[in-house]
Amino acid sequence: MKKKVTVAIDGPSSSGKSTIAKLVAKHFNFTYIDSGSIYRAITYVALKNNLIKTGDIDVVSLIDLLNNCSISFSFNSNNQNVIKLDDISVEDEIRTFEISNNVSLIAEKNEIRKYVLKIQKDISNNKSVVMDGRDIGSVVFPNADFKFFLDASIDVRALRRWNELKLTEKDLKFEEVKKDLLKRDKKDINRKFSPLRRSKDSTLINSDRLDISEVVKHIIGIIKKEI
Ligand code: DC
Repeated sequence: MKKKVTVAIDGPSSSGKSTIAKLVAKHFNFTYIDSGSIYRAITYVALKNNLIKTGDIDVVSLIDLLNNCSISFSFNSNNQNVIKLDDISVEDEIRTFEISNNVSLIAEKNEIRKYVLKIQKDISNNKSVVMDGRDIGSVVFPNADFKFFLDASIDVRALRRWNELKLTEKDLKFEEVKKDLLKRDKKDINRKFSPLRRSKDSTLINSDRLDISEVVKHIIGIIKKEI
């Protein structure tokens, strides 16, 4: 087997990337890295410090704060990510609707993307990784050994996300979740820096009619053939 394998899995919000990436990583015993969680942790820092006001961010103060704190990952016994802020897990805090609602403001800033890129490269150094996100195959690892782009229709994705969020946010309406996803898609696709794009050399998988295990099997099959 090749010494170090890099697998990039990109796609829009709630296309199933993280669930699928985790299972693929587990199968090959590679490290799974959820790059969205880094943007979410930064959003958490920004909100906690009141740096997002009326839809705008004080980027200078935020970068200053980030330079004085540490965002790191640890891995639990299943080799899954636990994102930490100054060594304290913020896994639960970053999964709220409020964070989802603000994260694209953070992700569109080039200064922030540069900060995240360094974390992404450092964490993948000397490891075989499966990393999911929006720009992994296009910007972060343009030479990745394997690139996949997962997609699904807006209604399928909104339903998946609503089912997840409803467990903790009982009053949340399906339409609210769908609206938020559409807003995030628009922002992810149209932002100036590292927009969501399918790189030509990626394998496109639409999961509208496929369940998770079918997608995982398909991806594992493609990787197995080559390594
Ligand atoms: O995958 P997610 O929903 O947890 O990602 C949260 C946000 O972070 C998403 O709205 C877009 C942004 N993101 C990004 O811009 N680039 C990445 N590589 C990963 C996530």
